[in-house]
Amino acid sequence: MYNDLNEVRDEVIKCNKCDLCKNRTNSVFGVGNENADIMFIGEGPGADEDREGIPFVGKAGKLMNQAFVGLGISREAIYIANIVKCRPPNNRTPLKQEATACLDYLRNQVILIKPKIIVLLGSTALKNILGENYGITASRGKWIEKKGILYMPTFHPAALLRDDSKKIDFWNDLELIKKEAEKNNYLI
Ligand code: URA
Repeated sequence: MYNDLNEVRDEVIKCNKCDLCKNRTNSVFGVGNENADIMFIGEGPGADEDREGIPFVGKAGKLMNQAFVGLGISREAIYIANIVKCRPPNNRTPLKQEATACLDYLRNQVILIKPKIIVLLGSTALKNILGENYGITASRGKWIEKKGILYMPTFHPAALLRDDSKKIDFWNDLELIKKEAEKNNYLI
């Protein structure tokens, strides 16, 4: 349906499928390697991302970057996107109808990028991609294979800012991803 990511981005920039468009400064489409083998999916833009139009540039993103540097995961090798492309007011969780309205953009990003591994950052990403029956505490750290893509649910980096004890699990989950990528010669 779309020939390339720019065509999807053009639609997102002018999207008014839900009310989140009313308060956006910038839509936040996604960033990174368009041929990435590994794609990270978060929840939705916060204030910093809304201002800059780039995902994970705020506090949570900086923490995630530190883990990437520590583990040798290059932000240039991967692709990062969100469930919703516009900031929910007061950083609330996106409503079901907002996520549903936006999800087609993400589906098309996945179709075009063709990642081998998708990392689901937190409950909103997990439930919207794999289904409401999945819970982040039980699912994190375990590979789930669907239609030829390996999914790894893990905590959202914002959860690590609230609870230090989750950092070790997050780190371990990223290590599993790194190992799988190295085993298969994936870009990382
Ligand atoms: N949290 C997210 O889920 N996505 C971002 O882009 C920033 C913070």
